[in-house]
Amino acid sequence: MASYMTLSFAFALLACTLCLMGDTSSAQLTHHFYSKSCPQVSDVVGSVVWAAVAREKRMGASLLRLHFHDCFVNGCDGSILLDDTLTFRGEKTAGPNNNSVRGFEVIDMIKSNVERVCPGVVSCADILAITALKSVVALGGPTWKVKLGRRDSKTASFSAANGGAIPPPTSSLDNLINTFRAVGLSANDMVALVGAHTIGKARCTSFKARVYNESNIDPLFAILRQSNCPPSTGSGDNNLAPLDVITPDRFDNHYYKNLIRKQGLLHSDQQVYGGGSTDSLVEQYSRNPLSFNMDFASAIVKMGDIRPLTGANGEIRRNCRVVNS
Ligand code: HEM
Ligand SMILES: *[C@@H]1O[C@H](CO)[C@@H](O)[C@H](O)[C@H]1NC(C)=O
Ligand SMILES: *[C@@H]1O[C@H](CO)[C@@H](O)[C@H](O)[C@H]1NC(C)=O
Repeated sequence: MASYMTLSFAFALLACTLCLMGDTSSAQLTHHFYSKSCPQVSDVVGSVVWAAVAREKRMGASLLRLHFHDCFVNGCDGSILLDDTLTFRGEKTAGPNNNSVRGFEVIDMIKSNVERVCPGVVSCADILAITALKSVVALGGPTWKVKLGRRDSKTASFSAANGGAIPPPTSSLDNLINTFRAVGLSANDMVALVGAHTIGKARCTSFKARVYNESNIDPLFAILRQSNCPPSTGSGDNNLAPLDVITPDRFDNHYYKNLIRKQGLLHSDQQVYGGGSTDSLVEQYSRNPLSFNMDFASAIVKMGDIRPLTGANGEIRRNCRVVNS
């Protein structure tokens, strides 16, 4: 009897060790993660995104960018959403984010609507992933099957967000390829993902040096962008210009057509075309919107898979701006 007890205890221990391993180290994101616990989540997110984009087209771009900046800093864990407090420094004021990332009120609205239908079930990191999809679709881009099951971090990293994990607009092609490789994405994934710059806006400070000082730029385009971006540091630094000069509110392949005309707005944009290893893919996407759509969709699913917290790790935040107490 005693030995039977010992044996069954040993089995229980083994089973539990296996189940914990399944929960923590090897749990995978899945398409159906909330199909029982919150089947409405996709529609609830979609309707808030739809309304926000109807009010302001650019919001679709801003929301998509949040998912990118979340995933590139210690994985897709909702860390970018945490507010600074007196005792906590989050990622919102890190260089790539400060005075630049936006859309947090929309995420709050989504989270509160989701909490109303399925309290305590859906993570903020997953909300960002679904929001990215709904934003792209709302602006005429491709759809994809979002993988879900991420949990939210209990921390954020100002230093990681500031330390080059998110590439700056001054990046060379090699820098771009390396920062994407660092999170398991290929150069081809990078070329497809940066096609997100077919929507949204950048501040003068992000493109000033390019439009005044670079030679691989269409001169008329440079003059156009200089007109609302004074060369001296100061009042004009936050003036905005569309990343895609042709169709800034449509998720299409015009970004790549612009690059071929030397009308990339950021230094980093133009690095992707004009004599480097990624030129042929840019040409392909500029000619073939379907191939861009397909590659963007598969690359963003890969991006969403960067180091998620799953199983027993992390938490489901009640409020995306603060860690649960
Ligand atoms: C390849 C490296 C990338 C660099 C160097 C880069 C850099 C930038 C910069 C500097 C801005 C303008 C920020 C400002 O002036 O306030 C911007 C905007 C934007 N980025 Fe990127 N980005 C990159 C990749 C991506 C990726 C992978 C995505 C999404 C999949 C993305 C989505 C966006 C969007 C949608 C905007 C416009 C946001 C808005 O209007 O609010 N970017 N990016
Ligand atoms: C963020 O931007 C504000 C407003 O321009 C500035 O005062 C602040 O110093 C910046 N924060 C960091 C950490 O650079
Ligand atoms: C352009 O380059 C010159 C010489 O390096 C520099 O002094 C100037 O500040 C640059 N202008 C801009 C807008 O970056």
